[in-house]
Amino acid sequence: MIPQDYIQELMARTDIQELIGSYTQLKRAGRTYKGLCPFHSEKTPSFVVYPDNQSFYCFGCGAGGDAITFVKKINNLDYVEAVKLLAGRAGMKMPDEDDAQGRMRSRVLALNRDAARFYYSCLNSEKGQQARAYWRGRGLSDATIRRFGLGYAPDSFRETFSHLKAKGYTEEELVASGIAKRSEKGNLYDVFRNRVMIPIFDVRGNVIAFGGRNMGNEKPKYINSPETLVYKKSHTMFALNVAKKSSSRRYILCEGYLDVISLHQAGFDTAVAACGTALTADQVRLLSDYAREVVLCYDSDEAGQKATARALGLFAPSDIRVSVLAVPGAKDPDEFIKARGAEAFARLLDGAGNALEYKMSKAKANYDITAPDGRLNYIKDCIELLAAEASPTEQDVYAGRLSQETGVAKSAIMAQMETAVRGQGRRRSRQIQRDLLKEGVAASIQLPRGITGQQALGVAVAEQQLVAAVLKQPEFMAQVASQVTADRFILPELSQAWQVMTDRWKAGEPFELSTLSCDLPDSVMAMLSRILAQNHGMGFGKEDIELYLGRIRTGTMTSGAAAEMDAGQLAGYLEQLRKKKRPTEHSED
Ligand code: UTP
Ligand code: MN
Repeated sequence: MIPQDYIQELMARTDIQELIGSYTQLKRAGRTYKGLCPFHSEKTPSFVVYPDNQSFYCFGCGAGGDAITFVKKINNLDYVEAVKLLAGRAGMKMPDEDDAQGRMRSRVLALNRDAARFYYSCLNSEKGQQARAYWRGRGLSDATIRRFGLGYAPDSFRETFSHLKAKGYTEEELVASGIAKRSEKGNLYDVFRNRVMIPIFDVRGNVIAFGGRNMGNEKPKYINSPETLVYKKSHTMFALNVAKKSSSRRYILCEGYLDVISLHQAGFDTAVAACGTALTADQVRLLSDYAREVVLCYDSDEAGQKATARALGLFAPSDIRVSVLAVPGAKDPDEFIKARGAEAFARLLDGAGNALEYKMSKAKANYDITAPDGRLNYIKDCIELLAAEASPTEQDVYAGRLSQETGVAKSAIMAQMETAVRGQGRRRSRQIQRDLLKEGVAASIQLPRGITGQQALGVAVAEQQLVAAVLKQPEFMAQVASQVTADRFILPELSQAWQVMTDRWKAGEPFELSTLSCDLPDSVMAMLSRILAQNHGMGFGKEDIELYLGRIRTGTMTSGAAAEMDAGQLAGYLEQLRKKKRPTEHSED
């Protein structure tokens, strides 16, 4: 039995849209994400992920549940295996991690530290001459080299691992650390050879991985440690262990290890970079534990600009303030600092525009604003942008700036802005309505009437809505727990769910959806996810609860629940209802 607080922490560290996004491409749609369902084949997306309650639901096939359900289903795992997989992703110790695994973890950490020491000593030995020249050529001082523990991996297939073996590490540990690999013949060989070495630390200061840079222009430029027991790229920020000691909460996020190192040397001690190829939501979450503000300072090439746009999207839901720094006339911050010095960079930082300014400057680059129609198009784009994304104060401020820039009267700009804001409002509410329809809310409201057992259906719907309300707004539980007991539910799945939820509540334990999958079968999880999906974006009031309670009560009092519809009829009807909801349902366990 895995403890409930373990599951809770696991859920807190698991980002469902990121998890699912690695199996199917998701597109943001308001507060949800949509994509093609990974569980059945479809051409138009009916699969929706709900970050607010960490669930997913497919309106096409009825698959649904939380992160654990998803991992179980997609990888065909049992509950414990799924928890382990998620724990690995989240960088958490396994729930039942035995001593052997824990021991291996600490051996790998010790090994990494010894490897870093070895690389550092090689840098300062005879054979490190070229590497020393390389670091010097990059403008790094001895103090910086020491601070970052930079080193050199000798030009040999066996020197590093032999050194570590002599220190008592086993071959198994060497392979587990990613420092050595096994050849087809079964012999060990060093992964990092004739490269300058950059150790990567976790926030606690453990050496968890290495990046090794080629000293010339050969490819690959970097070789990085593979993911290991102690290294999860998507959860690691390079130099965060140093940056977190700074008194400043304004972080500078760059692309490259060397940008970061160079910025630190120039006195910007909050520079960090994401490990791995692209910034992840987990890294954003990690940063948000330390940073209040982040300045994006990516390379000025196209790839850097794309990465900037992506990062803006990832930071949007966090409460970190983001701004974007362009480094004029240089390909990256490293080059800028070298050419123009630290003070020039500090001035850039102080003038760093926010996300809106960045988008406006992008819009400006699209037009020739010396020409009248260029100016008008530029203004039009900015107004659309501001109407959609800016607060009223920001709209006012930027309208003023636009006016200064273009010579068009501010009042004229504001008048257009108001029209645009109204238009957006209408569009947004229409879109919400369409989304709700698509997501089946209407379907659940317009249950077919006039068939036998209509009242039972009313009760079923009330039960469903009651469960949705309590899942979404757990504070209602106190009001309803004593009034409806699980045995009064006519839908067996909901009865089972209600039992677990009320038991949890009585024990003072959480009962949100993402904590229930250990106690409920997948079919019930899928049903709960559907109910939540259908009620997405809706809030419940006290009156709603009263209404549901009333319906449940009258239903059971006057008719004894299924009196009007015998059990078979009811089951048949519900089955039909389910089939309608998920015409291509695959096997369900
Ligand atoms: P860059 O090519 O910008 O590297 O890639 P850099 O660190 O700024 O190095 P210099 O200044 O060109 O010497 C940015 C980051 O992308 C990853 C590394 O994390 C690098 O710091 N990367 C790049 C790799 O992992 N492998 C590669 O082959 C290239
Ligand atoms: Mn670079």
